[in-house]
Amino acid sequence: MSTAQQVPDILSPEFAADPYPAYRVMRESAPLIWHEATRSYIVSRYEDVERVFKDKAGQFTTENYDWQIEPVHGKTILQLSGREHAVRRALVAPAFRGTDLQEKFLPVIERNSRELIDAFRHTGSADLVTDYATRFPVNVIADMLGLDKADHARFHRWYTAVIAFLGNLSGDPEVTAAGERTRVEFAEYMLPIIRERRENLGDDLLSTLCAAEVDGVRMSDEDIKAFCSLLLAAGGETTDKAIASIFANLLRHPEQLAAVRADRSLIPRAFAETLRYTPPVHMIMRQSATEVTLSGGTIPAGATVTCLIGAANRDPERYRGPDRFDIHRDDLTTTTAFSAAADHLAFALGRHFCVGALLAKAEVEIGVDQLLDAMPDLRLADGFDPAEQGVFTRGPQALPVRFTPVAA
Ligand code: HEM
Repeated sequence: MSTAQQVPDILSPEFAADPYPAYRVMRESAPLIWHEATRSYIVSRYEDVERVFKDKAGQFTTENYDWQIEPVHGKTILQLSGREHAVRRALVAPAFRGTDLQEKFLPVIERNSRELIDAFRHTGSADLVTDYATRFPVNVIADMLGLDKADHARFHRWYTAVIAFLGNLSGDPEVTAAGERTRVEFAEYMLPIIRERRENLGDDLLSTLCAAEVDGVRMSDEDIKAFCSLLLAAGGETTDKAIASIFANLLRHPEQLAAVRADRSLIPRAFAETLRYTPPVHMIMRQSATEVTLSGGTIPAGATVTCLIGAANRDPERYRGPDRFDIHRDDLTTTTAFSAAADHLAFALGRHFCVGALLAKAEVEIGVDQLLDAMPDLRLADGFDPAEQGVFTRGPQALPVRFTPVAA
């Protein structure tokens, strides 16, 4: 096993500026690192991260979420295991696929995207991060839950605090305190709404969660509140980064942008390649239940393991020319990219595979399609080179663009 000194530290400014060179060093010569500051073992190779996520031998748990997210959300599905997890999954998953997604929520997605674009479509300029990406998925979730539009800004603030808490690898006490405050504020806001909704069920996601029952099991008010809190972060921040990144990647590769503009059925390909090349979530943790030997050495039982998705997705053992963004690559399977049979690791794999993957796909398909229609000659603002920001989650900091407005 290697020590952290041999590669740039994951908490260093140079890593934050560009983690990809460090990922290469880790994969090649330090595939298992004991990282003192986060008190975790870092793994970076595709085969190791895949193995930890799939966990076929039952060697890993998600107990790390007890300290990683329970303080902000309460206890969520991510922490559950075994039958308890399977039942909870069965309670919530139907709302995010199939007819619920198609019939109830596609119109919500289309409306929310259009509203945001209407605010800038006639101006010829926008920042796709602040004017669109950071608002769209949060507005969609709030609207799906059937919450008041007037509260969207509050939701945006809460989710920013929650994400900062999750990415607070260096343990900044102010960030911790803000995350814990959010838990209190969110509970005060949400619990009365849940009680009221149980009395007056409607057609929205919150009503579905209140009424859902599997094998005689239902979710308590506290369960639903925690799940809604998780949805804000898990469904907001991630899709936000994904939309900004797909545009940043396409704008940097104008010929691929032109191909997607001409043939919108390429959007899922561009999204899948974006998830591989620039995943919104760069690291996910697990806890070892037993001693486990991976390609770079042995991890003791009871250790925290940091899985570097961003490194694994660029492993040359898995993808040819992994540092090339190429929506046409033939070694990334688009048809399975949004299911637990995916080969990229951006949604994790195994039992906790992202429940919202198809919702995210629908948001990206609709959002990119509408934005391309509204911005025919889309280009980056003069001289602007989109820089990525973030270590735990990562995406473009800003994306100022120019375009000729379409005549009304
Ligand atoms: C591009 C967008 C997205 C990315 C990259 C992403 C990423 C992930 C990842 C990596 C996990 C696994 C966490 C783990 O195994 O520890 C996960 C789980 C989850 N995601 Fe997503 N996500 C996205 C969109 C969404 C959306 C839109 C929703 C819902 C509104 C959502 C809800 C969830 C939930 C509830 C889980 C927990 C599943 C479980 O524990 O069984 N995600 N997501």
